[in-house]
Amino acid sequence: MKALVLSGGAGTRLRPLTHTSAKQLVPVANKPVLFYGLEAIADAGITEVGVVVGDTADEIRQAVGDGSKFGLRVTYIPQEAPLGLAHAVVIAREFLGDDDFVMYLGDNFIVGGIRELVDSFRAERPAAQILLTQVSDPRAFGVAELGADGRVVGLDEKPEVPKSDLALVGVYLFTGAVHEAVRAIEPSWRGELEITHALQWLIDHEHDVRSTTISGYWKDTGNVADMLEVNRCVLELAEPRTLGEVDAQSEIIGRVVIEEGACVTASRIVGPAVIGAGTRISGSYIGPFTSISRDCRITDSEIEFSIVLDGSSLTGTSRVEASIIGRNVEVTPAPRVPAAHRLVLGDHSKVQISS
Ligand code: G1P
Repeated sequence: MKALVLSGGAGTRLRPLTHTSAKQLVPVANKPVLFYGLEAIADAGITEVGVVVGDTADEIRQAVGDGSKFGLRVTYIPQEAPLGLAHAVVIAREFLGDDDFVMYLGDNFIVGGIRELVDSFRAERPAAQILLTQVSDPRAFGVAELGADGRVVGLDEKPEVPKSDLALVGVYLFTGAVHEAVRAIEPSWRGELEITHALQWLIDHEHDVRSTTISGYWKDTGNVADMLEVNRCVLELAEPRTLGEVDAQSEIIGRVVIEEGACVTASRIVGPAVIGAGTRISGSYIGPFTSISRDCRITDSEIEFSIVLDGSSLTGTSRVEASIIGRNVEVTPAPRVPAAHRLVLGDHSKVQISS
């Protein structure tokens, strides 16, 4: 069994971060979201992985390398444009051969991994196995309609009027039967070859398409709110440890990870939080659900429920929250603008001026 990991796409909902960086590399608890997926694949006993890359290919290659640090063998498959998930299967044909495979969207985050799912697929080998989960706004996803017996009867991609609240999660298992399906379908209204349509084709041609509904944690980390939420959830499971230095005037409360070479002085850190290697925190408050990456400087500032990427600094900043701050960013207070009022007031006037 192989894996096909999709790491292309423009990441429009995470702009401006994704103007300069791949959405799959935005860190969750200081580790790129893509790495959690690769670890889950390795944990399921799969070693041959095709990584489909687009405009951000160089960055993905640099981060993942040959895959050996995950115990994987990675083959890169360039996609000339984000032409859809089914298009990725088309261009990966040579890599996939006729083997069964799991397709994993590199910006999806699934708690608990995929080992059980892969094991049951290996044992039963339906043409396709999809994962579903209940969502509050299904219009943003592929949506499944289940029949009375629980079988998948229909699938729609981003429907205006969803037939259920069951969204397709970005992990799909296929046998070689999918290759005929991806070649048979036409591009959708958004110009993409949709995997949802390939699945519908399989259903229409009497193939066995099964679903598992998961109630555990899943997020498509395509937008800022979801990124912060996944970060919160992962930090809650972090094992507290202090590898860096913390001075006597600082207070560390709850689940806090302080990486090697980090230095905390005269500060208060309330977990869950992670402070990356080489980062310096001084005279500051770091509140719950905050990930500060490597080589940052947080000085006389307050921040919580946020993600700060490598090499950024906050200086003299009052409370920052629910924020994602990119790489090498500088946040400082705005200089005070001298305020002046020009008044011509008649006799006996009463004027209130707010400062
Ligand atoms: C894709 C799929 C959609 C699925 C979603 C899960 O959407 O097309 O069916 O529900 O991933 O993350 P996209 O990321 O292309 O908008």
